[in-house]
Amino acid sequence: MKIHESGTAGKYSEAFSQSITNPESFWGKAAQEVTWKKPFERVLDASNPPFYKWFSGGELNTCYNCLDLHIEQGRGEQTALIYDSPVTDTVKKFTYSELKARVSKVAGMLKELGVEKGSRVVIYMPMIPEAAIAMLACARLGAIHSVVFGGFAPKELAVRIDDAKPVVILSASCGIEVKRVIHYKPLLDKAIELSSHKPAKCVIFQRPQGRAELIGGRDLDWVEMEERAKPADCVWVKATDPLYILYTSGTTGVPKGVVRDNGGHAVALKWSMKHIYGINPGDVFWAASDVGWVVGHSYIVYAPLLLGATTIMYEGKPVGTPDPGAFWRVISEHKVKALFTAPTAFRAIKREDAKGEYLKKYDISCFETLFLAGERTDPDTYYWATDLLKVPVIDHWWQTETGWAISANFRGLELFEIKAGSATKAVPGYDIKILDSSTGKELGPNEQGIITVKLPLPPGNLPTLWENDQKFHESYTSAFPGYYFTGDGGYLDDDGYVYIMGRVDDVINVAGHRLSTGAMEEIVAQHQDVAECAVIGAEDQLKGQVPIAFFVLKNNVGRSGSEIAKELVQMVRDQIGPLACFKSAAEVSRLPKTRSGKILRGIMRKIADNQKYNTPATIEDPASLDVITEAARKIGYAKSN
Ligand code: COA
Ligand code: AMP
Repeated sequence: MKIHESGTAGKYSEAFSQSITNPESFWGKAAQEVTWKKPFERVLDASNPPFYKWFSGGELNTCYNCLDLHIEQGRGEQTALIYDSPVTDTVKKFTYSELKARVSKVAGMLKELGVEKGSRVVIYMPMIPEAAIAMLACARLGAIHSVVFGGFAPKELAVRIDDAKPVVILSASCGIEVKRVIHYKPLLDKAIELSSHKPAKCVIFQRPQGRAELIGGRDLDWVEMEERAKPADCVWVKATDPLYILYTSGTTGVPKGVVRDNGGHAVALKWSMKHIYGINPGDVFWAASDVGWVVGHSYIVYAPLLLGATTIMYEGKPVGTPDPGAFWRVISEHKVKALFTAPTAFRAIKREDAKGEYLKKYDISCFETLFLAGERTDPDTYYWATDLLKVPVIDHWWQTETGWAISANFRGLELFEIKAGSATKAVPGYDIKILDSSTGKELGPNEQGIITVKLPLPPGNLPTLWENDQKFHESYTSAFPGYYFTGDGGYLDDDGYVYIMGRVDDVINVAGHRLSTGAMEEIVAQHQDVAECAVIGAEDQLKGQVPIAFFVLKNNVGRSGSEIAKELVQMVRDQIGPLACFKSAAEVSRLPKTRSGKILRGIMRKIADNQKYNTPATIEDPASLDVITEAARKIGYAKSN
């Protein structure tokens, strides 16, 4: 799509080159947009690489910057948050003053329960306003929240409870999916039973769609507690103090606790709202994600409120709540200026309404830009969305670790011509370099390699992993000293456009959700009859990728492979959760391996996706590849077109 905007040419290259050659001046200026209790002494402390500190010496409160500040500046009556829930047929609006009143009371409630600066609070909640209120209440006290996505099973929640060691857990009685009510409380009870660390108290928000039984002595009723709590004021924290921990999938079954600081986060997100998303105070911005993911943290809760915009919390799906016109209804009803979602949501709409008939029912003239992330925007989805909406469709690339975009197009700085399949250019602050995987040498334009970012990373990025500097270094900065390893492969073209070709590790993306095939393999391997296994991400028309497993049975098991496959599906669902979308497993007589015993997962993936592959010279048994092809066909993969 060709786009011409007058007066912006050159603005990007000026900002980008300043951010790289003089980051202290660039981010020091951006930091003036944030209100500090105590000014920072240094913009960037680079004295202990690879651990960098932004705005050290400074003190602020993120909740103050999200709420109190706007009220002091006269925007108290402006809508801060719109809760739109087609699954409960509710629309509820909160002004900045109303939101601050609720947040202060919930902060008071937490304080009464012993939560203070630095305490951890786990939040396991559906998409209701109380989830955002809980996050902001923690920020108000300088406590560290850790939100866990509702689709995770008790075991995953337990692992996070053990790592974060919360004083209090905040939850709700239930969440509402399209076809069923998910009772959260039994899942929470099970998780606490499984975890070694036990929280002192759990506060449960009761929903009429499914009330929960409270356990005496431990569980408390949210509404009762909030009603009688005294409002709490902001506690000032250091810029470098943690705001939250968000766990994300790595290559093993142990999730990584990504830490976000207060100061760098506020500065970067506020900058991004204006320059990437083109949003001004008072505009309506909608991130159709979930607070359990980084997109929800950054762009449902923090960034729109830091800027003084209006944010939407949508408890629904792109289709089925009630139809594929749901997104257009929300855009039109609430005058949304920009929407941020995952490409999979658009594929779901396209599948049910390819001609866009539902759009005709709504006036969406307020709508200016669609932002997509979480997985690559495939050209088909890009062209379909562009033709339908007739606004720029911007693919931008980022990760839980970075907290905001690494590459993007810039609605509020300079909008570049869009190339389908590319996430456009490096965001100011990110010095993207493509390195050769074996030599670590920098590659030139159009040469594919490992995508890295030259250190230091800009503000807002993870300073470390929760209580694990060593794992941070091993995961991100040891492979290529001086560079941050993104885990993605790809290349830059002659114009500096970024092309993301997918993960180079065992992480997969299922409907925009990041999952570890390694974690699933650990579960499958636990089955008493399984001798060995491999889990890979296979292409899926709707969800981008889905996990599939190949397993070898032990000798003389005496049961059929299909019977065991069903048990494996259930085990993954029980231990990771339904969001894994793990539905297919196939028995094989053997797995393809190199002579040194390494399972050839990359080739198995190509077989499942029916792509060409080269048989490596090091393979132990070339016929094992035919075994995989045949098994993959039986479960609906490796089909020739
Ligand atoms: N709590 C409990 N269970 C949940 C859940 C939650 N918060 N979210 C999803 N699940 C369950 C679903 O009910 C489903 O269970 P099932 O196997 O019993 O049917 C399973 O997890 C998979 O859910 P989902 O991936 O949402 O699949 P779907 O078929 O219901 O919907 C899409 C498909 C494409 C519409 C949906 O995935 C979607 O809207 N994706 C957008 C993703 C997104 O916003 N990502 C954030 C990054 S921007
Ligand atoms: P998460 O941490 O859940 O945000 O997932 C991050 C991963 O999702 C990245 O490392 C990429 O593999 C993938 N991803 C996110 N956005 C994009 C995008 N725009 N294009 C391609 N891959 C993406």
